[in-house]
Amino acid sequence: MANGGAFRHQPRPPSTGTPIADSRPSPNSTPSGPTTMQNRSHAVMAQRVEPVESADDFPTPPWATRALFEHVLGDKAALSSQTCLEPACGAGHMAKVLEEYFGEVHASDAFDYSYGKVRDFLTRPYPANAFHWVITNPPFRLAEAFILRASNVAQRGVAILARTVILESVGRYERIFRDMAPTKFAPFVERVPMLKGRLDPKATTATAYAWLVWEKGNRTGPQLIWIPPCRKRLERQSDYPDPRTSPTFDDSPLASSQPKPTASGDEGRAAEMAAGGFAGAPGGE
Ligand SMILES: C[S@@+](CC[C@H](N)C(=O)[O-])C[C@H]1O[C@@H](n2cnc3c(N)ncnc32)[C@H](O)[C@@H]1O
Repeated sequence: MANGGAFRHQPRPPSTGTPIADSRPSPNSTPSGPTTMQNRSHAVMAQRVEPVESADDFPTPPWATRALFEHVLGDKAALSSQTCLEPACGAGHMAKVLEEYFGEVHASDAFDYSYGKVRDFLTRPYPANAFHWVITNPPFRLAEAFILRASNVAQRGVAILARTVILESVGRYERIFRDMAPTKFAPFVERVPMLKGRLDPKATTATAYAWLVWEKGNRTGPQLIWIPPCRKRLERQSDYPDPRTSPTFDDSPLASSQPKPTASGDEGRAAEMAAGGFAGAPGGE
């Protein structure tokens, strides 16, 4: 961590990214400036581009947050006496899952989604080590600034859900990863579809996501953890409150009546390769 913690080996000045004005518009207001290049089809492409002033509201499917606790972090029981800040909570799709594990969850967002407090995580002063954990899915263009800020605000650890391409780029290597490598890098082997402003269990995506975890006091090198197929087991019908997009799930923990995502985009191609007997084609992609 920046303040004498174990995250960072050699402190570097934080890059705060693009500052966001204090007066927050609703996330649904139309941003002035370039049009959002959002793919309106089910497939969300890897090179998603959001205008600078966009809220970048892409809710996390709840099963992908549960996967952090079920497959990446150890000692779930200890979390029930710990605090967690979700500093970019949006409509609360990740924060509600954090409440399943933590004793106390604080949720805030720079925009008003009628969930949590309205606070800009990058400009609001927080004391160092204010929460045991900081866990979120930040706007990708601000991910670097969120990681650096969270490393100061968290006492125990930081977990960030981001596109796997976050590991690439010389700039991010020099500003974060060289001196503050995550203690765990956990890519999903399944796709995690994220759509602008809504959850849709039928959506597919070309984008790969991973959890990046920094645990204070963990001095071992970065650990690579594949998050195994787990969507079927961790998804609940109550995760999708919109009956128009919510098919029927069996909410039991070992649910089996799970709708299969439509094979399209790269997932469809992988299925074609597998059907064609391509020796190296894994089950998913
Ligand atoms: C990708 S969405 C994730 C929402 C939520 N964490 C989830 O996973 O469902 C990113 C969120 O970051 C919020 N945001 C953008 N800039 C922010 C800032 N400077 N401080 C706090 N939240 C911010 C957006 O309003 C949006 O809700």
